[in-house]
Amino acid sequence: MVRNVAELLAELDSEDFYLLSGIEQGMRFSEWVQREKLPKFSGLTPEEVEYRLERCLKRGLIEKKTIQYEGYTLQFEGYDALALRALVERDTIAEFGSPLGVGKESDVYEVKSYKPLALKYHREGYTNFREVHRERDYTSENRHVSWLYTARKAAEREYEVLETLYPDISVPRPIDQNRHAIVMEKMPGVELSRTRLEDDQVLGVLELLCWELTRAYEYGYVHADMSEYNVFVAEDGVTIFDWPQAVSTEHEHAGEFLDRDLTNLVGYFRRKYPRIVPDDLESDAIAAEIAAGSFESIPR
Ligand SMILES: Nc1ncnc2c1ncn2[C@@H]1O[C@H](COP(=O)(O)OP(=O)(O)OP(=O)(O)O)[C@@H](O)[C@H]1O
Ligand SMILES: [Mg+2]
Repeated sequence: MVRNVAELLAELDSEDFYLLSGIEQGMRFSEWVQREKLPKFSGLTPEEVEYRLERCLKRGLIEKKTIQYEGYTLQFEGYDALALRALVERDTIAEFGSPLGVGKESDVYEVKSYKPLALKYHREGYTNFREVHRERDYTSENRHVSWLYTARKAAEREYEVLETLYPDISVPRPIDQNRHAIVMEKMPGVELSRTRLEDDQVLGVLELLCWELTRAYEYGYVHADMSEYNVFVAEDGVTIFDWPQAVSTEHEHAGEFLDRDLTNLVGYFRRKYPRIVPDDLESDAIAAEIAAGSFESIPR
């Protein structure tokens, strides 16, 4: 698990961030950035680089390795610190809170400005990256930036989708994005998977979700990772979140993704509420209606 760097922020100096961002720049060219190149990338003197390297190593923000040369690379903690600092500097975040969710592909924390927000650090590419490293200690230069790049692209993608869909579709309101991090409004409610709906709410909630998916489709997106874990339910409605993998409705397999989304959703409702969901309710038929813009209701 990636450590929370929020409490580190106060003890880091601007020069520490120059060093981190110097390593970040160097990582565009190779995974392990040569020590000799750091003064140029960071704008610091060689003495200052040495001092800052020690401080950042000690705090687990970077990693050192001597292969053919002495090289340095960012840890996810170092990348988190860079993103967090940028978000604090532009006043997106004023206060750091407790974890809201820790996944394989992300860490989500509550943060605050004038209201409660959620900060999601994307971790895509991280697991693969680590596995590859355990297997063979390769020094080839071609796949070096994978996790940094993959995580940032996922955050950019999710932010772009939220900006398109909000507010017409019920998704978390996007606030800001930097590197692999996005800031959005904190959603009210609890995960669908952790709620037990009243019998007379069940089909209504499923219908509401289908309406949201219909409108998202009209706006050009299929979620492509729909499940009871990516929906929040509150008193006044539902919120669909976790959009980085959304595909365009123009995508050649958009129809299959939409089918799968509906299979997951209807399947979940059927398993959890077998007495209420009609046996003849077909997820494929609903998916077809959503794609045609003609979905109206769940027959009951
Ligand atoms: N805007 C938000 N407000 C409140 N909680 C949130 C918000 N966004 C995410 N969370 C919490 O963080 C958890 C993980 O978020 P999300 O599903 O976006 O990430 P993920 O890592 O892709 O999850 P997974 O891969 O397990 O589906 C959610 O299940 C939810 O509990
Ligand atoms: Mg999720």
